[in-house]
Amino acid sequence: MSTNDPATGGRRAPDRRDLLAYASLAAAAMVVARPSWAASSEKGVTFFDTAEVYGPYVNEELVGEALEPFRDKVRIATKFGFAIDGTIGRDSRPERIRRVIEGSLKRLRTDHVDLYYQHRVDPNVPIEDVAGTVRDLIAEGKVLHFGLSEASAGNIRRAHAVQPVAAVQTEYSLIERSPERNGVLQVCEELGIGFVPWGPVGQGYLTGKIDEKSHFDPKTDMRSGFPRFSPESLAANRPITAFVQEFAARKGVTPSQIALAWLLAQKPFIVPIPGTRNIKHFVENLGATDVVLTPDDLREIATTLASHPFQGGRMNAEQMEQVEP
Ligand SMILES: NC(=O)c1ccc[n+]([C@@H]2O[C@H](COP(=O)([O-])OP(=O)(O)OC[C@H]3O[C@@H](n4cnc5c(N)ncnc54)[C@H](OP(=O)(O)O)[C@@H]3O)[C@@H](O)[C@H]2O)c1
Repeated sequence: MSTNDPATGGRRAPDRRDLLAYASLAAAAMVVARPSWAASSEKGVTFFDTAEVYGPYVNEELVGEALEPFRDKVRIATKFGFAIDGTIGRDSRPERIRRVIEGSLKRLRTDHVDLYYQHRVDPNVPIEDVAGTVRDLIAEGKVLHFGLSEASAGNIRRAHAVQPVAAVQTEYSLIERSPERNGVLQVCEELGIGFVPWGPVGQGYLTGKIDEKSHFDPKTDMRSGFPRFSPESLAANRPITAFVQEFAARKGVTPSQIALAWLLAQKPFIVPIPGTRNIKHFVENLGATDVVLTPDDLREIATTLASHPFQGGRMNAEQMEQVEP
């Protein structure tokens, strides 16, 4: 899974095959419902994403129960780093990471995690100490690979110097292009690190199913507090979503498939993890691997998006403070 092959000094150009054993598109476990697990394995999906904080704990339990029969055929990624004390504070102290991995292994019903991400960089713990702790867990066989989520290019470099980073997970999509500008994609390419875009269908924005009349329940749906999901932003961004829908119809595919195919076309080391609770959406999203975007297609998408600046932040202010620029 790691692209940091010691034989080549860790400098080999990364490739999607390094990140996924069999599939070129991953299913995020956060929202995949039970009936789809068997379908996932039949379809060759082998890369599942979860985190201690999802639920909290409940999602890891679901993933553990569901994947137990397929454990040797799948790769499980999970994450540590939130305090889980009623706040959304961060806690990556080494002693806590060592405690958290034990709980994750138990809930996931496994003796190792394939990819262990720090969910958010902790300003109170030097990244070298985090990397060193995961290096120890790797030496103990509890973790196979180290990942970072929403980390800056600088912190990715510092961590990588202590323990090679196998994957970086950060929001990236047609409507969230920060990794192209802040050096994160570039550092992943340079260091041979896989890149895992979360929110690859724009947290639903790019599916053709959301518009200014959509309701996001504040009790159950965090998007209700995200600036880009306000009715005003949804209306202002209508030209972008309308273009994606129109473009998809011209290609004879769906908007979600265009969003995913666009990511797959950006770099060979990119592995998007669309999340869904819906088996039809799951199958539809997998179809993105068959969608071919020509250089003309990619040019048209780039030109159109450049002429319609996107409106609205991707998360609420508190959450944005925790992601590195
Ligand atoms: N590292 C991090 O900080 C972080 C943060 C957030 C998420 N994640 C991970 O990344 C995964 C994906 O991110 P995400 O779920 O936030 O964003 P996403 O995959 O871009 O969007 C998921 C949303 O889109 C809808 N959707 C997906 N495919 C669809 C389709 N074909 N047609 C219609 N609607 C569709 C889903 O609804 P339906 O259920 O109705 O399909 C869901 O509301 C998560 O599951 C989680 O594992 C990581």
